[in-house]
Parts: sequence; C-alpha cells; structure tokens
Amino acid sequence: MKRKVTVVGGAGNVGATVARQIAEKELADVVIIDIAESKAAGVGLDIYETCPIIGSDVRVIGGSDWGPAAGSDIVVITSGKPRGPNMSRDDLVRDNFNIMKSIAPKLVEHTPDAIIIPGRQPARRDGAGALQARPSFRKSGSSAWPACSTRRA
Ligand SMILES: NC(=O)c1ccc[n+]([C@@H]2O[C@H](COP(=O)([O-])OP(=O)(O)OC[C@H]3O[C@@H](n4cnc5c(N)ncnc54)[C@H](O)[C@@H]3O)[C@@H](O)[C@H]2O)c1
Repeated sequence: MKRKVTVVGGAGNVGATVARQIAEKELADVVIIDIAESKAAGVGLDIYETCPIIGSDVRVIGGSDWGPAAGSDIVVITSGKPRGPNMSRDDLVRDNFNIMKSIAPKLVEHTPDAIIIPGRQPARRDGAGALQARPSFRKSGSSAWPACSTRRA
C-alpha cells in the first residue's frame, strides 16, 4: 500500500517544495492543503502532471478540504507566516501559534494517527500547540529546519 503525506500550507514556498520533493522522489501520494484553495489545487496539478514525465507514479491533489488527508502517514505543517522586517523569532509565536491552534482540531478529526512534522517557525512551539490538542500525537522534529534555525540563532 502506498504511503500518504499531507502538507498543510502546501501552496506556499516551503510547502510546495516539500510536496514536490516527496512526489518526484515517489516517496508517497501527496495531499496539499491550504486556505488558498485554488492556489493549492494549481500547485497540486502542476506537480501531479510532472510526475509521469519523470517516472514517478504517485497521486497529488490540492485544495482546502481535509477529507483527502484521512489515513495520512505523515502530516507536514508549513502553514505559517514568514518572519517580516523588524520581527524577532519570538514575534512569530503569537501569529503562528494561533494558526496552529486552528489546524489542531483538523488533525484530531482527520489524521489522528499521523506523525506530525512541524516545519514552520517556531517549530518547538508548534509541538506544544499540537500536543495540547491531543497528548498522544506523535510529533517529529524535522532535521533540517531546527538545524537551520539553530545555526541562525
Ligand atoms: N527555519 C527555516 O529555515 C525556515 C525557512 C523558510 C521558512 N520557514 C518557515 O516556514 C513557514 C512557511 O514559509 P513560506 O515561505 O512557505 O510562507 P508562505 O507564505 O509562502 O506559505 C505559507 C502558506 O500557509 C498557508 N496558510 C496560512 N494559514 C493556514 C491555515 N490555517 N491552514 C492552511 N494553510 C494556511 C498560506 O495560505 C500560505 O500558502 C514560515 O513559518 C517560515 O517562517 C522556516
């Protein structure tokens, strides 16, 4: 059975890159979820239509509906605001934590058994948001993001 990875915020820069890498390496079917519904659908279609050309046999879909995410093995969360001018990393906590709080009930409802990989800033606080929603969530730190952030700190 094929694996399934959902990328929340997958219409954005980081999420679309993650989705494309997973699909092109034929690691799993990919579900892209984003509040920017039509952009998510377009990004998903672009990636999906590339796959046969490079020999990857996966399905990729995009939109704002969480239904297709059901049964995901992994959920990567890249939905978040990038740090703007004059913002400290701590300034990101408030806005991105609120985004995470809005996503957490969807994780509980649609992907309760998935491993959750927070990939936006600040990653450690994301874990707290997800774990508040359901203590049994399996959360994984992503190796690249924290390493990158640590080097910048
Ligand atoms: N640590 C690092 O090295 C590093 C590098 C790049 C980006 N980041 C972080 O990754 C995150 C994303 O960056 P980006 O450049 O892709 O930003 P982006 O603005 O391009 O993408 C974010 C996406 O999230 C979506 N989104 C917002 N709220 C949502 C919600 N509730 N549900 C679903 N989708 C939602 C937006 O519509 C957008 O498409 C930011 O938090 C950024 O700080 C970290």
